[in-house]
Amino acid sequence: MSRVRVHNFSVSLDGYGTGEGQSLERPFGHAEGRLHDWFFHTRSFRAMHGEDGGDTGVDDALAGAWEPGIGAEIMGRNKFGPQRGPWEDHEWTGWWGEDPPFHTPVFVLTHHPRPPLVMKGGTTFHFIDATPQEALRQAREAAGGLDVRIGGGPTMVRDFLAADLIDHLHVAVVPILLGRGVRLWEGLEEMEKRFTVESTTTPSGITHVTFTRPADQ
Ligand SMILES: NC(=O)c1ccc[n+]([C@@H]2O[C@H](COP(=O)([O-])OP(=O)(O)OC[C@H]3O[C@@H](n4cnc5c(N)ncnc54)[C@H](OP(=O)(O)O)[C@@H]3O)[C@@H](O)[C@H]2O)c1
Repeated sequence: MSRVRVHNFSVSLDGYGTGEGQSLERPFGHAEGRLHDWFFHTRSFRAMHGEDGGDTGVDDALAGAWEPGIGAEIMGRNKFGPQRGPWEDHEWTGWWGEDPPFHTPVFVLTHHPRPPLVMKGGTTFHFIDATPQEALRQAREAAGGLDVRIGGGPTMVRDFLAADLIDHLHVAVVPILLGRGVRLWEGLEEMEKRFTVESTTTPSGITHVTFTRPADQ
């Protein structure tokens, strides 16, 4: 069966996956770009956005695992944009411009479904109100046998971990303290027992921790 993967999910030392006060100008709220600085510098991130250059090395090697083998993504409504409640701005098509870097179907979980958005480059956003299990069923069907990525934010990743639906989780622990925002680990006591856990710290100061479900489970 296809696997369910999370990549490059950045958390502060105090466990926040995003800051407080998200807005159009500040997608990560008061965290600004501090959670993803390490990622923005990598060759993989730049290539994802059609740019040359960028750092190579261990951060980049891990960052580059984001794309291969993925056939669909599931993301939360707050990753897609800053609107809350019923959609008011129907022109909003996400933070990523007309050719988003996903190039697959993307299922946006929301209590306010709306018609799909077909973008350039193979990305279609489907807005669905569904349990994690049902969202995963739909994403797997759309992925045609490839893996499904859980794209975040922290609420989504936490819900999928709580439902034990994730097979591989890559967390980048960034040595900053945010103090407020949305925490990833809330309520996931002893989650690590379900996984093989590996970690490595890179010269940039990031500790990459991977949680991988053992092959026999
Ligand atoms: N740290 C990282 O690497 C990383 C990665 C990706 C994103 N982010 C950041 O994380 C932030 C967003 O995270 P978040 O935790 O605030 O929110 P989120 O996980 O993106 O989305 C949560 C929202 O999705 C909807 N939703 C979730 N489960 C649902 C379900 N089963 N059925 C229907 N709707 C459901 C609800 O919205 P409604 O009820 O309003 O519809 C809920 O409030 C953004 O700032 C983003 O930039 C960080």
